[in-house]
Amino acid sequence: MQDLAGKHIVLGLTGGIACYKSAELCRLFVKAGATVQVVMTEAAEQFITPVTMQALSGRTVYTSQWDTREPNNMPHINLSREADAIVLAPCSADFIARLVQGRSDDLLSLMCLARPMDRIPLLIAPAMNREMWAHPATQRNLMQVAADGATVLGVGNGWQACGETGDGRMLEPAQLLEDVTAFFSPKLLAGQKVLVTAGPTFEALDPIRGITNHSSGKMGFAIARAAREAGAEVTLVAGPVHLPTPRGVTRVDVLSAQQMLDATTRAAQSASIFVATAAVADWRPATQSEQKIKKDGSGRTPVLHFTENPDILLSVAKSERAQSKKLFCVGFAAESENLAEHAKAKRERKGIPLLVGNIGPLTFGQDDNALLLVDANGVRELPRAPKLTLARELMTEIAARLPDWRV
Ligand code: CTP
Repeated sequence: MQDLAGKHIVLGLTGGIACYKSAELCRLFVKAGATVQVVMTEAAEQFITPVTMQALSGRTVYTSQWDTREPNNMPHINLSREADAIVLAPCSADFIARLVQGRSDDLLSLMCLARPMDRIPLLIAPAMNREMWAHPATQRNLMQVAADGATVLGVGNGWQACGETGDGRMLEPAQLLEDVTAFFSPKLLAGQKVLVTAGPTFEALDPIRGITNHSSGKMGFAIARAAREAGAEVTLVAGPVHLPTPRGVTRVDVLSAQQMLDATTRAAQSASIFVATAAVADWRPATQSEQKIKKDGSGRTPVLHFTENPDILLSVAKSERAQSKKLFCVGFAAESENLAEHAKAKRERKGIPLLVGNIGPLTFGQDDNALLLVDANGVRELPRAPKLTLARELMTEIAARLPDWRV
């Protein structure tokens, strides 16, 4: 997806082994539609060559403030003025310290200092050994650099090139792309707390087997990501799915409908928007065997009895918080036919301001979908598009409805 179409990013590399990830980051920025101008410090050149970065960005790389290619000989001015953002990835402990001190004895630091702060944001992806990261000097510098207007994108945790394990790794390129995309998104849901349920539930028959469905969780995860991009604080209650947690989202993993109800009820107490995308199993086995149910050789098959599961959306929609209009509830309806009719009836039955209909067999597991929004005023179609695109449109639709609904 061309999430960065029209954006011009100055990608600054400083000295650190994480420079090997910057090649992939540059490629992802370009794939997302951005133009990328790479600027490297002398130390960065020890880890990766300008040739690699030139080939991936399609532009010659700048490494020196004395570069004579610029007619006015001021690359530090010219390069930053064109940028929609300067992204430093990796940003070493030393370079953070230099930013804090306002040093300007190489092109990259000079360019950061000379950037017009009110219109050219500076985003920092630190990368260093865990002890360097934890050192009070680094933490102090990070706080100062943030106070001076930079956005610190955080670090990863795990195995480090030095052989130690801990905080300080540079975030993965895909995570950085997600963060940079979110940074550019309009903050339509700033101050909102969004709660999303996603995926199927798993209703155990015995310790080995259970009943579930084909929901992939992709729509719910896309909604959680889009809500975070729009500036909301997001909790995602997820059934058993194989999807990475969207950046900046708090994830609670559950298995059964009952567990999903418990986690959702808890989080709903402070949420302001609830989007129920989970394909909750309507029934669970009435009894759950503690041991594996065995064949007894007689050819007889077990007889299963079912109990109805709680309706999570209905229960949240009936809560005091939703009834007093502190919690805007959005339901999803997976139908197989007569979408508009079923969706309208379901919205009324669940007593919610907005219901999103889709055709189940056409969406389960797919990367795209088409949605039908049903509210008190009628029906609106969101044509087939990638789920993330639809999720972003849905966030815009929700944000637009909130002021009128709350009065
Ligand atoms: N839902 C829920 N808990 C349930 C069942 C459904 O929270 N136990 C939510 C879903 O997440 C979705 C909406 O309710 O947002 C619609 O679910 P769906 O199963 O399509 O509708 P039902 O009310 O179960 O009606 P039917 O099975 O007749 O289509």
